Amino acid sequence: MSNNIDISTAMDFHLGEIIDHLPELPDFVAGIRRAPARHFNLNQNDTELALKNALRYVPEKWHATLAPEFLNELLSRGRIYGYRFRPAGRLKGKPIDSYRGNCLEGRAFQVMIENNLDFDVALYPYELVTYGETGQVCQNWMQYRLIKRYLEALTDQQTLVMESGHPLGLFASSPDAPRVIITNALMVGCFDDQENWHRAMALGVANYGQMTAGGWMYIGPQGIVHGTYSTILNAGRSKLGIPADRDLAGYLFVSSGLGGMSGAQGKAVEIANGVAIIAEVDESRIQTRLDQGWIKKAAGDPDEAFKLALDFVQKKKSMTIAYCGNVVDLIEYAVNHSIKIDLLSDQTSCHAVYEGGYCPQGISFKERTELLKTGHAGFKEMVDATLRRHYELIKILTDRGTYFFDYGNSFLKAVYDAGVTDICRNGKDSLDGFKFQSYVEDIMGPILFDYGYGPFRWVCLSGRDEDLLKTDQAAMDAIDPDRRFQDRDNYVWIRDAAKNKLVVGTKARILYQDAIGRLTIALKFNEMVRQGEIGPVMLGRDHHDTGGTDSPFRETANIKDGSNIMADMATQCFAGNACRGMSLVALHNGGGVGIGKAINGGFGLVLDGSDRVDTVIKQAIPWDVMGGVARRAWARNQNSIETSIAYNEMRRGSDHITLPFLTDEGMVEDLVSKAFANIKK
Ligand SMILES: NC(=O)c1ccc[n+]([C@@H]2O[C@H](COP(=O)([O-])OP(=O)(O)OC[C@H]3O[C@@H](n4cnc5c(N)ncnc54)[C@H](O)[C@@H]3O)[C@@H](O)[C@H]2O)c1
Repeated sequence: MSNNIDISTAMDFHLGEIIDHLPELPDFVAGIRRAPARHFNLNQNDTELALKNALRYVPEKWHATLAPEFLNELLSRGRIYGYRFRPAGRLKGKPIDSYRGNCLEGRAFQVMIENNLDFDVALYPYELVTYGETGQVCQNWMQYRLIKRYLEALTDQQTLVMESGHPLGLFASSPDAPRVIITNALMVGCFDDQENWHRAMALGVANYGQMTAGGWMYIGPQGIVHGTYSTILNAGRSKLGIPADRDLAGYLFVSSGLGGMSGAQGKAVEIANGVAIIAEVDESRIQTRLDQGWIKKAAGDPDEAFKLALDFVQKKKSMTIAYCGNVVDLIEYAVNHSIKIDLLSDQTSCHAVYEGGYCPQGISFKERTELLKTGHAGFKEMVDATLRRHYELIKILTDRGTYFFDYGNSFLKAVYDAGVTDICRNGKDSLDGFKFQSYVEDIMGPILFDYGYGPFRWVCLSGRDEDLLKTDQAAMDAIDPDRRFQDRDNYVWIRDAAKNKLVVGTKARILYQDAIGRLTIALKFNEMVRQGEIGPVMLGRDHHDTGGTDSPFRETANIKDGSNIMADMATQCFAGNACRGMSLVALHNGGGVGIGKAINGGFGLVLDGSDRVDTVIKQAIPWDVMGGVARRAWARNQNSIETSIAYNEMRRGSDHITLPFLTDEGMVEDLVSKAFANIKK
């Protein structure tokens, strides 16, 4: 049987080699948000297992010290984070030249990871949570140390394999293969449920990557501002009758959440020139957004918030207000005082509704944090009661003319799970969707995703402001604002991006583009790197896109041929990106909606100015988008059919998309109803 000496000598990379002494226990910097303690409910055997699982990262000489410390973390916080291994002080995505590594990609991913864990960027940096209450870079700091070491060692002849935060190792590949392949939380079907999920998390074998947290591609709340801006603006256009060349001046948007992603709502409404009130139960998050200038004012009670908002609505001037309290109290006030809300949404973390993502009415944020530690059963009932009340109030407001939309946080599903079957379109289950459309069914799907418009993003790895300005200009030059109104919106977005001060963390940008737009811009950027006009660039995208994500309650909510419960598209997108040589590919369970509800994937591509990367761009970027458009076309989505027809024409001889023959709906209906009439007889 092998012993720990054999094991240690068999590894070139391990914690004992990375650090020669056990680091001091860290001081937690005051004012940095901490994740709530997760409810501990492992049995005795599983507790032993969790402890052994964490200790396998650590040389034996430190076990006696760390075993009780890790056990204490598990009992008190519900997880083993290995705080002692967190490097002291602030982590930050620095210019790429300051990182060690044997290949550009290895250094580039260190920039991305450290940005995901920056105090200014991450939601709970000590617990490696980047955003969305539970979305982690990896599970613990031992993994972090090892990942960093592997990225320093990685060559262009190897691939780093990441399984739910655990670096499995380096394996030989080629310069044309991905440098990193990540999977997070992919559970075997019959175990893909909440109970097994919580056990796996506590055992330290599962990581919830959300999207860009565990896919190492987060770019701060800017990442979601563009999508939020497009959604709210187009909701106004299609539901309130605002013309395509006008903005939200004179309209009121009400929502909740000023966290990682939801914090984008204020900024998006400001850019669209409207008025917003956003409810938030955690005062520290309000302060963050006030300091950043993404929220202009805070109000302690609903009366004050609405008075201020309505004044600006009347003046047709933009204003963004944080209401410090529960969103249900806020909209209850609007109902009781007959206040007109034009657009209503919610962005609490309903994908993790019982884990702290949604604060029940009647208790403070602090009380909910206390309750999370202990009274799980009672807490669930409080959450459910609030969700039911929330739904009743929304119904009253929509009956009065408000347009409500689910903004991809699984809110409608959470209401359904709280026992409200009335919310289902078929009155009994969620198979036909919910009575309120999700924003993808109504807005984002047909207007953006079906054409292939999605959240293309880049990071200037040099860390230089001027590189970002140059790339903004180059991207703007590539857009024809007169082609479609979507292109005009995107043009205006990138034209004003620097002025809108969207950067938090690394010098990053997001810009919605379709397949050809992304291809053109990517080639241009690689050329600029080649010419030495800018330093290397990381290309990527959110998973919230046309092709990378199968999520029936969100990204694929407007797929209506019954295939919305399948996860083939996301898996094919991931595999296709890997074989076409993207630098990083990621595939996750859960997306932004929760475990078992989505399979989602993303990529990273390092632009080094080479011809090799030109080839990857030409093959992988159109695939990444058009795989999704093709699937949407096959589901008979009209805008995708048109886009695919044009694509087949443009790429004749290289790409070819199978298109659906359309049926005469009346003929089918007639035939089937006659057949059913006979069956009944
Ligand atoms: N549509 C999209 O494109 C998109 C993108 C990213 C995330 N999301 C989803 O949106 C949700 C929010 O993401 P996030 O990153 O901002 O999460 P987050 O946890 O950082 O923020 C949610 C905020 O809601 C607040 N909150 C909870 N309950 C409340 C209540 N009853 N009243 C008022 N405030 C309350 C919390 O204090 C928190 O600050 C998640 O479910 C996420 O998956 C959607």
